[in-house]
This record gives sequence, structure tokens and C-alpha cells, in this order.
Amino acid sequence: MPYRPEDDEIPNPLRQGLRAEATPPPCAMVVFGASGDLNHRKLMPALYNLALGAHLPAAFGLVGVSKSQISDEAFRLGMRDSVEKYSRTQPLDDEVWADFAAGLHYVPGDFNDPKTFADLKEKLDQIDRERATRGNRLYYLATPPSTFPLILKNLKISGLVRSVNDDRFSRVVIEKPFGRDLDSARKLNRLVQEVLDERQVFRIDHYLGKETVQNLLVFRFANSIFEPIWNRKYVDHVQITAGEDLGIENRGRYYEEAGILRDMLQNHVLQLVCLTAMEPPVAFDADAVRDEKIKVLRAITPMESMEEVRKNVVLGQYIAGSLSGRDVPGYQQEKDVAPGSHTPTYVAVKLAINSWRWDGVPFYVRIGKRMPKRRTEIAIHFSPLPHSLFGAGRSQPNVLVIRVQPQEGMALRFSAKVPGERYRPRTVSMDFRYGTTFGWTTPEAYERLILDALRGDQTLFLRRDEVEAAWKIVGAILQNTEAPEFGAPHPYPAGTWGPPEADELLERDGKTWRRL
Ligand code: BG6
Repeated sequence: MPYRPEDDEIPNPLRQGLRAEATPPPCAMVVFGASGDLNHRKLMPALYNLALGAHLPAAFGLVGVSKSQISDEAFRLGMRDSVEKYSRTQPLDDEVWADFAAGLHYVPGDFNDPKTFADLKEKLDQIDRERATRGNRLYYLATPPSTFPLILKNLKISGLVRSVNDDRFSRVVIEKPFGRDLDSARKLNRLVQEVLDERQVFRIDHYLGKETVQNLLVFRFANSIFEPIWNRKYVDHVQITAGEDLGIENRGRYYEEAGILRDMLQNHVLQLVCLTAMEPPVAFDADAVRDEKIKVLRAITPMESMEEVRKNVVLGQYIAGSLSGRDVPGYQQEKDVAPGSHTPTYVAVKLAINSWRWDGVPFYVRIGKRMPKRRTEIAIHFSPLPHSLFGAGRSQPNVLVIRVQPQEGMALRFSAKVPGERYRPRTVSMDFRYGTTFGWTTPEAYERLILDALRGDQTLFLRRDEVEAAWKIVGAILQNTEAPEFGAPHPYPAGTWGPPEADELLERDGKTWRRL
């Protein structure tokens, strides 16, 4: 039966989704890097859907800034095309679009030219007058990281950011990657601190905007039966998989610099580890939640030696293979990738969280491009039975699987008696799916995060110390894996679940990766 809101006896935080909160205050938003992919594919469709759901403030305007010399009108047309192409809701609602597009403006210019910022200031003043946005500003840095310092400095010099104590807010959303190692992240943080108060900084990790990722908090801390067994006494190990069938999608230049560890492990996947492993926060507010996440990161001792990294980390790189019956090239044949490149497109790592709750419970993580399918999940493998009444090996340990994407939901694996005269156990599964239970499409991560930034809620954004703690862990791995003596990543054909060496990582501990 389809889900009806009146069926709920208890208010459900997931169903209420974006609707539950108040509309944000008036604001003019600025997107630096307006001609880039992120703006076209993610930000504009997210903003349009916020407008469609009446979540944007009535007084709202947006200025796109980038190098291309185009007019306001051409910018609006380009944005419309992108929304038509990438919006999760189709077809585009002409009335909502017309209203939203009337507030879209464009300022062409270089980020190192003071004139760009003077023009921007003028445009923002105009929007304040025309759309009553009252001097509130949300700046979004959707640009390559090398431009972050320049934009931040120029925002400051041109007087475009006001003090945190001003009645009119100035906030800055900073995209990933935030630095490329601990030193550069620290340097960027210092610069951010010269320009802004931490309360004005919104370091984004779009995984935190995903409903299923937020549900980890609800699932763990709004149910009484799981928390007592969520620890070393009952959990044997945890497996986290973030697999994508996609390759690097024309991002060769970026990917050669980043590789899978910087692109996915340092941010998205370590966030999944944190939310899975953290203690209950004392309150549901930004600092309380972030305080608990950072404790998890601090409990992961960075792997300092080459020997340790070799033992716990396996890197891979895809070679030509076949995906859904289609031949796809190897990483080294992709555009802008150097022949003989050692950039990893796959990593498997065994992490140890040295805390009261998790001591001795390995967290195995695997992340890869060009896997057979897109699948991100967290699997909690509970301890095996101490003694089996129904024959050795007959009952499999319980596993709780949190499916982040796709088929968002959860499944609990347990043993049940096969009907018949004998006591034969078989593994069965209880399954919850968002789609069938709630019957509506969940908002895109960027919708939630833009809305939170407009409201000034930092809970789902990364704090300075959190980013640095994550870099300590990943930086230590990188220092060893990027040393020439570590050698090349292991090849795996596109369309497979990574190199065989990653299987050995678990086999050594008497375990196997889940088959997905
Ligand atoms: C981005 C990475 O941050 O996340 C990409 O740069 C990756 O390489 C993407 O494909 C994955 O995001 P999602 O939401 O599709 O899982």
C-alpha cells in the first residue's frame, strides 16, 4: 500500500525532509565558477528544485561569476538548459523557472582582477534594491582549489564579507578538495581564518547531504535496540564500500592530481566511517555532532611506516575491460592521463579505531572507479554464534546493511527455519526501502546543503579540526604510497571489484568482501 502521511503515529524525521524547517532569511547568493560543471550539473538544478518546493526565501537573487563574457540573458538560458537536463524533477515548471530566473544575474571576470569584485559589489547592491535581499550574502566557491585563496583574499579586500557580528550575514561555502595534504589544508585554513570567522565557513562534503547518510544518525540514535549491540562485544567487523561504475569522466587532469585517496577517502568515506563509529552526541547541534565525529578520526592512528601501509592498504588502477556489455578503456588511455601513471583509481584499506567501543574491530573500506555497478553501502557484520545448535556452518552471522545508494534503504540478514520437518536454518533478509515506504523522490544532497548554508546551520559541514584530522590519516598513507618504492597500483579490469590483492587483505583475517 502506498505511504500516506496520516499513517504515521509518530512524526518521522525522514518523511518531513526539507519541509520541516523554516524558510531561510532573504539572501543574495554568489556562485564563483558559474560556467563550471558543478554549477551546471548540481547547484542550479538544486536551487531550481528548492524554488519549486518553495524552500528558497521570497527575497532571493543569485549572481554567477566566471571568465566567459556572456550577458545575464545568456546566463539564464544556459542555466535553464542545465536544469532541464539534470533536474531530478521533470519537466521544468515554466512559472517557477520564470520567477527564479528573474533573480539570476551574471558578472564576467577574472578572480585576480579587482574590477571583477567591484562589478560584483555593484550587482549585489542592485539585487539588494530590486529583490530586498537585505545585504545577506552566501558565496559559493565552485572553482578549482587553486583559486580559493585568491577569491577569499579579494572578497576581503573588496569589503564583500562583513564581520560575523554584523546584522547582515556573510557566509562562504568551500567545495572540496580542501587542500591536498595536511600542510596545504592547514595553510588554507589559516587563510580562511584571516578572512572569516569559523561560524561563517561552510566546508562542504556532499555525502553529508545525502538522506541515507543523515539517516545513520536517526537510525542509530532514534532506536533503542541497535545501540546496545553497536560495539566490539557484538560487532565482528565493518565493511564500507563506495563503488562506482563510472570512470573519471573527462576529469583526467584533476584525477591525476587527486587519485582515489584524495577524491573519496579523505572526505566522503571517512565521513561514513565517522557517522558509523561515533558516540551519541550530547545534543543535535553542529558542534556536538562534529565533536563526536572528530573523536573517531583521532582514534584512528595514522599509519606512519611503509610496512604498516603495505600491510593495510591495497591500491589499484583499472585497465581496459567491459561494463554492462560495453568495452571501456583503461585509466591510462583516458584523456589527460599520463602513460605509465601511478594514480590509484581503487583503494582497499583496513582501519583500526582505537577506542573503548571499537578496539579490535576492523573497519574495511574499499572504494573504486569502474566497478561492475554503482554501490555505496555500510555493512555491519555481527559476531558469529558461539555454538551452533543446527549444524556447523549452517547459520551465517547477522549482517546489517545500510544502502547509501542506490536502492536506498537497509537490510538485516538473519537465520530462519526452512519450512519442513527438520530444523534447517537459512539466511533471509528484512528489507526497508525508502522508495517504497515513503513514495517520493528524496532531495539531492546539494539541495539540503545549500538550504542549510542559507539557514546558517553548520551541522552537515566540516569544521576546521575535522578536515585536518582526516588529512592526518590520509596524508600518512599518501606519504608512503606516493614514495617510489611503494610501486605501481595493482591493475584490475574495468567491470570487476578491484585487484585480487584486495581480497587477500581480508582473507588474512579469515574474512571475505561482501558480494554485491
Ligand atoms: C565526487 C568525486 O566528490 O563524488 C567524484 O569527485 C565521485 O569522483 C563523486 O564520482 C561521487 O558522488 P556520488 O554522489 O555520485 O556518489
